[in-house]
Amino acid sequence: MGAVSPIIGSIAGDERKRIMDGAYDRSTEDLGNSVGLEHLNLTVPDQQTATLFYIMGLGMTRDPYLMTGLENMWVNVGRSQFHLPIGKPQVVRGHTGLVVPDLDALRQRLDAVGERLSQTRFAYTAHADRVDVTCPWGNLIRCHAPDEAQFGPIVLGMPYIAFDVPEGAADGIARFYREIVGAVARVDAANGTASASVTVGMGQQLVFNEISGELPAYDGHHLQLYVVNFSGPHRQLAARGLVTEESNQHQYRFKEIVDPESGKALYTLEHEIRSITHPLYARPLVNRDPTQTNRAYTPGHDAGRWAKRPGA
Ligand SMILES: [Fe+2]
Repeated sequence: MGAVSPIIGSIAGDERKRIMDGAYDRSTEDLGNSVGLEHLNLTVPDQQTATLFYIMGLGMTRDPYLMTGLENMWVNVGRSQFHLPIGKPQVVRGHTGLVVPDLDALRQRLDAVGERLSQTRFAYTAHADRVDVTCPWGNLIRCHAPDEAQFGPIVLGMPYIAFDVPEGAADGIARFYREIVGAVARVDAANGTASASVTVGMGQQLVFNEISGELPAYDGHHLQLYVVNFSGPHRQLAARGLVTEESNQHQYRFKEIVDPESGKALYTLEHEIRSITHPLYARPLVNRDPTQTNRAYTPGHDAGRWAKRPGA
C-alpha cells in the first residue's frame, strides 16, 4: 500500500475515505479568470424614485459608507451591487436575475410602493417560482426564490445578467470570453437559437441569448468583473485596440465584444475590469433584513444574510 500524503493523512474518517475514493467532482468548483460580477451600473434620473423601487420595493440596502449623496447611490444585493448615478435612464437589453429570500414578502413590498410608482413603467408579474419586476424606467429584473440546485446557498444576490444579442453572435461571444477574458464559457442551442453562458463568479453567469429582430441602441450601461489574471486580457484587448479606458492601476474598461477569430464586432457592452488587488475587492457589503419594522421588531435581526447555513 502506498504512503498516504501528509495532507490527506491529517483528515479523519469518512472525509478521508471520500477523498481516497475520488468521490468528489472537483471540476464543479472551478472558476475561470473572472471571479466576481460585482456591479451593474445604470444611470437613473431621480433618486427618490430609485429609493422607492430598489430599497422599499425590492428590499435592497443602500450602501451606508460610499456614494451617500445625491449624485449617485450604491444599492447592495448580497455580495453584488447596483450602481445608480444620476442621468438619463439606462436600460439593459435583456434582464437581470436576482435571488431574494422570500417572494411573498417581495410581492407585499412591491404592492406597497405601487401607487407611488404608478406614473412610471413600474410593474410586476408573479409566477410560481419567480417575480418579474419592471423598474420605473423599464429594466426587467427577474427575482427568483433561493434554489440550491440553481444558485447554491445564495439567498440574496445577483446570479446572472442575461443580454439579448443578435442571431449568430453566441459562438463568437463565448470564444471572446474564453480566449480573451479567460473565463469559462459554453454555448447551448435550442430551437435554432443559441445562448452563450459565461461563468463570471461563484454561482454567477453572464448569459447572451440570441434573438431575432432589432435590438435597441446601446445606451452606455456597464457591468464590472473582478479577474485574477488582470494583465492577460488587457494585453489582448490592447493589441486589438479595444481598451476604452485606462482608469487606474487596478482597473480598465472595454466596450466591444468581438469574435477573436474574425475580429468582427458582435455586441457592445461596457465592462469595467478590476484586478483582485483592487482596494474594493471583497469589500464586505451591508445587507439588512427588509422584513424588520419598528412595529414588528425582532431584536438582533437587523442584518440580512446573503447565504443560508448548510442544511438549513
Ligand atoms: Fe462601475
